Order: sequence, then structure tokens, then C-alpha cells
Amino acid sequence: MKIRVLGAGAGGGFPQWNCNCHNCRRIRHGEMQGKKRTQSSIAVSSDGRRWALFNASPDIRSQLEAFQDSWPREGVRDTGIHAIVLIDSQIDHTTGLLMLRESTKPLDIYCSEMVRQDLTSGFPLFNMLQHYCGVNHHELPLDGSAFSIPGIDDLRFHSHSLKSKAPPYSPHRHDPHDGDNIGVVVEQVSTGRKLYYAPGLGEIEPHVAAAMQAADCLLVDGTFWQHDEMGRAGICEKLALDMGHLPQSGPGGMMETLGGLPAATRKILIHINNTNPILDEASSERQQLTAAGIEVAYDGLEITL
Ligand code: MLT
Ligand code: MN
Ligand code: ZN
Repeated sequence: MKIRVLGAGAGGGFPQWNCNCHNCRRIRHGEMQGKKRTQSSIAVSSDGRRWALFNASPDIRSQLEAFQDSWPREGVRDTGIHAIVLIDSQIDHTTGLLMLRESTKPLDIYCSEMVRQDLTSGFPLFNMLQHYCGVNHHELPLDGSAFSIPGIDDLRFHSHSLKSKAPPYSPHRHDPHDGDNIGVVVEQVSTGRKLYYAPGLGEIEPHVAAAMQAADCLLVDGTFWQHDEMGRAGICEKLALDMGHLPQSGPGGMMETLGGLPAATRKILIHINNTNPILDEASSERQQLTAAGIEVAYDGLEITL
């Protein structure tokens, strides 16, 4: 299995256009050891030619331009992006669908019923796309059962519901429903190798812990280091868990969770918010991660499982 990180940043990216926080200011002025990051998306393939895109970020145009395996190969219109899986209906995960409107076929989009509802009401991207390429919606199972994507035959996908948050515009923001957010296990049938992808993860429920234990590689929520990170940065009082993100530090945090997994499991944080000190490669927080065998995803990272 091949995995390509298209964007490792959270909503807003790094640096964020209007943010003057400690990280954004320093990266803009070349005063920080670290990398800029676009917004949250990965692509997965078994053959390196036909890719499932996970999320369509507002930065998709530059992400695909930088991703040679997605470029057209045959005919006057072509793409390596074969289907799209949406983890939730957040703006940073869906807005890029508008940039795919030139598709010569309806977009094959795999998402939950809750996400479909958001994208046909509060943020009606699906309705809008009907006037361009159109959408073929495929409803995802929420109980961990397998689905496949025709044409990407050596991969099996298992999706389950997560405790995280629907977007601020969604009627479900304060009224959670199964399928507002999902985690996905991608398994390569021929090798049995497994990726677990969950960029928005608020709670380690038993089915999440089991998926993590069974995976060879994790790409999981790395949004915030601290629960009150936004408040400490003087930005707003929103807490990490109010936004559906489990912070890395502290009891029951993501570091502790990942520490309980086998040493051979590749553990990678993704969807990193621009306030997070782990973006600074010289920070003590980043050194703690490195010492614990935890990596931080960056744009262009390629993983072969
Ligand atoms: C999130 O992951 O919490 C959201 O994407 C935040 C946002 O809308 O920017
Ligand atoms: Mn997000
Ligand atoms: Zn910032």
C-alpha cells in the first residue's frame, strides 16, 4: 500500500492567513525550524496509479500539482484520483470538491449519511456540483464492516463512527449523530497490511483502541498539544475537546494512548493546528514525541506499507 500525505495541517493551514501566533509569525519570517503545511488530506493506493483521495482540502489544487502520481496519463482529460472518501463535512475536508468540478465523470464520493445531509443543506456542495460534473454518492457503513471501491481492488476499507464534532455550520454541532465523523481502516488484501486514519478524534472508544492495536501504521489526530492551547495563544477560549480533538499531552491524551501500542506500529500525527508547539522541530514537545517514537506528518510524506 502506498500512502501520500497531501496536507498535514488542520483548518487554516500553517501559517494561517490572519494568524500572528508564536508559530505562524516565526515560520513566515524564517525564524523557526519547521515546515509549512497545507490543509488536511491524504491519498491511498495499492498500485501507485489509482488513488483514493481522503478529504478534499481547500488547498487541493496545489496538493495535486505537487503529487505526480495524480497527474493525467492518458487522453486529454485524466486523473489518478479514482474516488473520494470524506471523513466528515468540515470545511477543511470538503471545500476542495469545488475545485474538482471539471471532472469528466460524476465524482464518486464515499461518505456517511450525516455528511451527505450536511453537504446537501448547510454547505450544499453536492447540489452545486450537480451543475458541473455531478456526484455519485456511496453511503459508508458505520459499524466497521468492509466496503470496497471498484477499480481499487486490492484495498478494503472499514469505516466506523467516532466521537468528534460536526462542523460549526451543521445542525449536529451540538447534537451528535453517528457518522458526523469517521475513522477508516484501509487494508491491503494481498498483504494484510493496515492503515488507520482518523484526523479528527475526540475519544479513544474501544473500537478505536482495537483499530489502533491492529494497524501497522496510524495517521491520527495531532491537532492540539494542550487542551487549552487556543486560549494560551490568546486566540479564543475554545477547548480542544469542544472542537472534537483529543490533545496529545496530559492523562488519557494521544501520547499516552500511542504509548500503549506495539513498538513496531508506525505512529504518525496529522491535522496539526498552527498553534501546536510540535510544529517547531526544535521544541521540547517535539523532542518528547520523537523520544516516544511518534512522527509528525508533513506535506509530501510518502509511506509504503
Ligand atoms: C476542525 O478540525 O476542528 C475544523 O476543521 C476547524 C475548522 O473549521 O477550521
Ligand atoms: Mn479540521
Ligand atoms: Zn497561528
